[in-house]
Amino acid sequence: MAQQPREQWGTRAGFLMAAIGSAVGLGNIWRFPYIAYENGGGAFMLPYLVALLTAGIPLLILEYSIGHRYRSSAPLSYRRISRPAEAIGWWQVAICFVIAIFYGAIIAWSASYIYFSVTGAWGDDPNGFFFGDYLQMSETPGGITGYVPAVAWPLVGVWVVVLAILALGVRNGIEKANKVFIPLLAVLFLVLVVQALTLDGAVAGLDALFTPDWNAMLDGSVWVAAYGQIFFSLSIGFGIMVTYASYLKRKADLTGSAMVAGFANSSFELLAGIGVFAALGFMATAAGTAVDEVATSGIGLAFIAFPQIISTLPFGGALFGVLFFASLMIAGLTSLISIVQVVVSAVQDRVGLGRLQSVFLVGGIIALVSILIFPTHQGLHYLDVFDHFINQYGIVLAALAMLIVFGWVLRRLPMFQKHANEVSSIRLGTWWKVVLGGITPVLLGFMMWDSLRTELTENYAGYSTGFLLSAGWGVAIGALVFGIVVSLFPWKRADAIAREDAADAALTAKEGDS
Ligand code: PFF
Repeated sequence: MAQQPREQWGTRAGFLMAAIGSAVGLGNIWRFPYIAYENGGGAFMLPYLVALLTAGIPLLILEYSIGHRYRSSAPLSYRRISRPAEAIGWWQVAICFVIAIFYGAIIAWSASYIYFSVTGAWGDDPNGFFFGDYLQMSETPGGITGYVPAVAWPLVGVWVVVLAILALGVRNGIEKANKVFIPLLAVLFLVLVVQALTLDGAVAGLDALFTPDWNAMLDGSVWVAAYGQIFFSLSIGFGIMVTYASYLKRKADLTGSAMVAGFANSSFELLAGIGVFAALGFMATAAGTAVDEVATSGIGLAFIAFPQIISTLPFGGALFGVLFFASLMIAGLTSLISIVQVVVSAVQDRVGLGRLQSVFLVGGIIALVSILIFPTHQGLHYLDVFDHFINQYGIVLAALAMLIVFGWVLRRLPMFQKHANEVSSIRLGTWWKVVLGGITPVLLGFMMWDSLRTELTENYAGYSTGFLLSAGWGVAIGALVFGIVVSLFPWKRADAIAREDAADAALTAKEGDS
């Protein structure tokens, strides 16, 4: 059974833009600034840098190597390492499915808020406007209540754009889109940061962000926060980087690319910290309060604090809003594209669908579920709980499983080190195996245990146990069960694909592909 030749990136820069596009997302803009501020400010930079060098970049290299070595979607790549490991791949596919459905919603809100920034729709009550007028959120979580067209339409728009880009393929869609979006994002965001820095009180904000609290470095939870941020921010443990690297040419600099992507992502994050805290400094100064009164992250930062700031600006408010929400939208879109591609490519490999069929079938289902759930009055409740549980007990746990299975059980790190070194500019030393085989899994295990402890002692965000069991644990455990169940079915094509790839590549002679 002859396969279509696998799609490929056009250029190394194209792959890098796509990898950076995936990494730079909402996490950089609305998560990093507050995490850094809360965990020691300037002193956070050290644990953060250590986390980048000991976990972020080494794991990126591992994921790139797996994708590049097996040139398959996540489930098939893992299966080719060892048959039972396929389950981890489908688990990641399920995780990506869940994240995609709610990430799309946040991008749609951002799109609406570009427009609202110009009309000043929230008046002097951004809080009431967001939860009430715009989302029409219901007070009590659970069940399905009314539907909000004003949220649904932009969401439909987001999905049309994402599916259209994916339908154009890796080179003509994903690569071209990222080559436009990433430079555009950099320009928009730079202008935003410059504008923020000119505001009254910007310095107070930067002081609050960067003043080091050196004691924080003695606090274990600060290190956990640093690893957690690096993890989420670099899109590690989703299967995204395995998927993207599977479209690389045989000759590809894996370690060099991981360094570039890792440092580019962190630079953007740092820039976002400066922009966000300069703006928060302005907000605090205008209100005559301290920065810690106004510092926040996530939805509260983007859809309540920023609208407040935009309204308070004496002039240029609309521009500031457009820049901010357009940045959020673009950063989100390029990440969303990458995560949907994980699911699309897995289904392509699994059932032998062509790209277009897979995009419209798989992407269509994701879009439909997203459009059905998130514009309802319940949308925000589901989003909040999905996000928390799938991050904590999906991504991080799947990454831990990868390290334990590939590193400890199957002992494949030396093979991947060798593979990366054969093609890369910067050679990996023994440190890479030590870090991935020792430090990182232990730290991730600790993070897991730590968050489970809190989870079991108090209900997340005060939601009812019933709601958390169904929407939180149900979804997180459901993803894992899905992974295991799907991997149990026979998969004849997998062996055919593996054989063709092995025949095609002289370099696969070393390890038993099955
Ligand atoms: N690195 C992304 C971020 O910082 O937002 C994480 C991510 C989230 C990637 C959602 C992809 C995605 F769909």
